[in-house]
Amino acid sequence: MKLNKIEKLNGVLKLPGDKSISHRAAILAAIAGGVSYLRNYSPSADCTSTLKCVEMLGARIERQNEVIKITGCGSNGFTELKVALDCGNSGTTMRLLAGVLAGQPLETILTGDESLSRRPMGRIVEPLEAMGAMISSTDGHAPLRIFGRRPLMPVKYRLPVASAQVKSAILLAGLFADGVTTVTEPVPTRDHTELMLPAFGAKITTRQYEDGKQISVTGGQLSPADIRIPSDISAAAFFLVAAACLPGSEIRIENVGLNPSRTAILEVLTLAGVDITVSKNRFEGGEPVGDILVKGGLDPNKSGKPIILSGNIIANLIDEAPILAIFGTQLSGGLEIRNAGELRHKESDRITAICNGLRQMGASIEEFEDGFRVGKSRLHGAQIDSHGDHRIAMAFSVAALFADGETVIVGAESAAVSFPDFYKRLAELSYPGPQFSLLNDVKSA
Ligand code: S3P
Repeated sequence: MKLNKIEKLNGVLKLPGDKSISHRAAILAAIAGGVSYLRNYSPSADCTSTLKCVEMLGARIERQNEVIKITGCGSNGFTELKVALDCGNSGTTMRLLAGVLAGQPLETILTGDESLSRRPMGRIVEPLEAMGAMISSTDGHAPLRIFGRRPLMPVKYRLPVASAQVKSAILLAGLFADGVTTVTEPVPTRDHTELMLPAFGAKITTRQYEDGKQISVTGGQLSPADIRIPSDISAAAFFLVAAACLPGSEIRIENVGLNPSRTAILEVLTLAGVDITVSKNRFEGGEPVGDILVKGGLDPNKSGKPIILSGNIIANLIDEAPILAIFGTQLSGGLEIRNAGELRHKESDRITAICNGLRQMGASIEEFEDGFRVGKSRLHGAQIDSHGDHRIAMAFSVAALFADGETVIVGAESAAVSFPDFYKRLAELSYPGPQFSLLNDVKSA
């Protein structure tokens, strides 16, 4: 994708359904006994991988316009397969499905693409084996061969990494355990699983202690549900930053998920002086939702102190780190992210990808093992390698909107992993019209 500067962004934006919530809804619907309806399900390649996997396992999937109807298998109904389940690029698909499959008296294999096969799976293998499943892997990496067991043994598990995927894998396995499974998270992570489980009839309790939050689930059969999925705040983040950095912009994003475990991006933008208004706050399917209005132009009177993000807030903005790095180049005091070593285990090593890309665009950036520090910089166009990572591709596409000259994003098609219509939406809002085009050689690469 070849991109050039635009003047501003204007208009009303509708975004795809939240990716994290969509995965959970599809998996819970697949193990529930009966028919569930999922509204505004994410069209992302990742969430499509989850649907394909649960369909192969025996769930019936029907699309009725915007609604996905899933006839679940009930807790006993998965089919043993002769072929592997392909999770594509999706860590959430692999880790959450592993939790469910650990509790099936079947042998299943989970595979993924090259990027997913490099990501750490030992973090789910260890607790799921403690519950009684057997999982073979290559040095803690996919493919995972899962020998499930029923019932599993309930465990009390304290998360060694701040990971909602690990927490969710254990809670899902807990549905197939004989008794109460408890996960303690010292650092808060996104809580969509524990919010959604009661809608499917699961017995869940959560308690906040001084050393962390405890979530307990009792094993048992799920009933079907009707779930409306809010729009994805992590997709909104690219447009919020783009509008903030282009004076004169004004965009309204409707029905955005505002779960407090995901909204740190709004706090950071507000702290930096961006004009953001949230309205029509309400709850849909247990999740807070609202509309966001953002107006462009960073406040020139802001103190110029650097924004430093570290500690517990990192889990809340882990997926926003690439776009926050781009944002940091436009702040008088710059921006620093620390305690974010997890970024090296995402779809790419995001710390390296951010630092290399921004350096190529002329930014002053310092790389740390657990993060980076970026200073205010005038960006110029460059050829950026997305490493096939959707969030890197979209973040640098936003940078291109205010960089001098032309930027080429190699692997821009990876945006479809979370946001298939990203460039279409960007084109619709761009003033005076989109300044980008797909290059043929990149298209065929
Ligand atoms: C996700 C949790 C996060 C996040 C990922 C989606 C989820 O990963 O980065 O994009 O849906 O639970 P970790 O839980 O591994 O940090």
